[in-house]
Amino acid sequence: IRDAALAVIEQASDLDELEAIRVDYFGRKGQITTAMKGMSQLSNEEKPLIGKLSNEVRNAITLSLEEKQAQFEADLLNIRLKEETLDVTLQGRKLPKGSSHILTQVREEIEELFLGMGYMVVDGSEVEQDDYNFKRMNLPEDHPARDMQDTFYIGHNLLMRTHTSPVQARVMDVHDFNEGPLKMISPGKVYRRDSDDATHSHQFQQIEGLVVDHHISLADLKGTLNLFAKELFGEDREIRLRPSYFPFTEPSVEVDVSCFNCGGGGCRICKQSGWIEILGAGVVHPDVLEMSGIDSEQYSGFAFGMGIERVAMLKYGINDIRNFYQNDQRFLSQFKARG
Ligand code: PHE
Repeated sequence: IRDAALAVIEQASDLDELEAIRVDYFGRKGQITTAMKGMSQLSNEEKPLIGKLSNEVRNAITLSLEEKQAQFEADLLNIRLKEETLDVTLQGRKLPKGSSHILTQVREEIEELFLGMGYMVVDGSEVEQDDYNFKRMNLPEDHPARDMQDTFYIGHNLLMRTHTSPVQARVMDVHDFNEGPLKMISPGKVYRRDSDDATHSHQFQQIEGLVVDHHISLADLKGTLNLFAKELFGEDREIRLRPSYFPFTEPSVEVDVSCFNCGGGGCRICKQSGWIEILGAGVVHPDVLEMSGIDSEQYSGFAFGMGIERVAMLKYGINDIRNFYQNDQRFLSQFKARG
């Protein structure tokens, strides 16, 4: 039995055949099982002898079966390892890379610039009280200058802010001058009842700036904005101040920057005068300081407000404000440099 068994095991060609052989010998009616059952009929002298022999036969066959099975399993594993190797040198798939919106890039560039000069960046609220948007900015009810900014009212004394200037009053209300001068910028969305066209949008973004301390003057404003213009538009830019009017500043100015090359590809921003307006600014009106409980005899300040879209349009030679809001990838993907 043993030699016959070892021979068929040797010739088995896979795990299934091996299993069939195991059943043939060790199954309920298998050869070994039957032989073992026959043992009970042997005499007492024969039992130990035959028992020892049959144990040896059984062990030999079992061992051989196990060895063969281990060998088959190892073979199978090798085949799988061969078939399932990864080619780690294979080129990966390219994922499209996103970037922040051009307006976000410009806003962050301006924020970084002022952060570097020790300003804090403050958040305001897009839904604002009439009090803060107008009255605290020296625009009482029926003030004619309210017409400069057509307003979305959303309730009694509640509106979509028309500029970021109300943040001035909010910050002055709580500032503690024992902790140092007040220097802040505040970026955010503003809303006006304008019909959208190439240069108007019912929603756009501004950055407000405010500095209040002892002896702050128009000269400080000019120095600050001069630096700003050079950083943002190029080293050889100059600025000039033109007299203007805002109810919350006195004197008020409009700030122009000298002609410059934008974007690239021969793009040049220039008007006949050689100057382009970039923002409104001025010395904070004493009444505005006083309404926040700041002594205008002791303190003075300057403020400015710029449109982020306008700055971006000048910087990159973009001629239609609607480009910013149409989410056309052909437009947006041109500005992946920084983001
Ligand atoms: N708030 C003004 C505007 O929206 C801009 C401005 C801000 C002017 C601060 C002067 C000082 O037009």
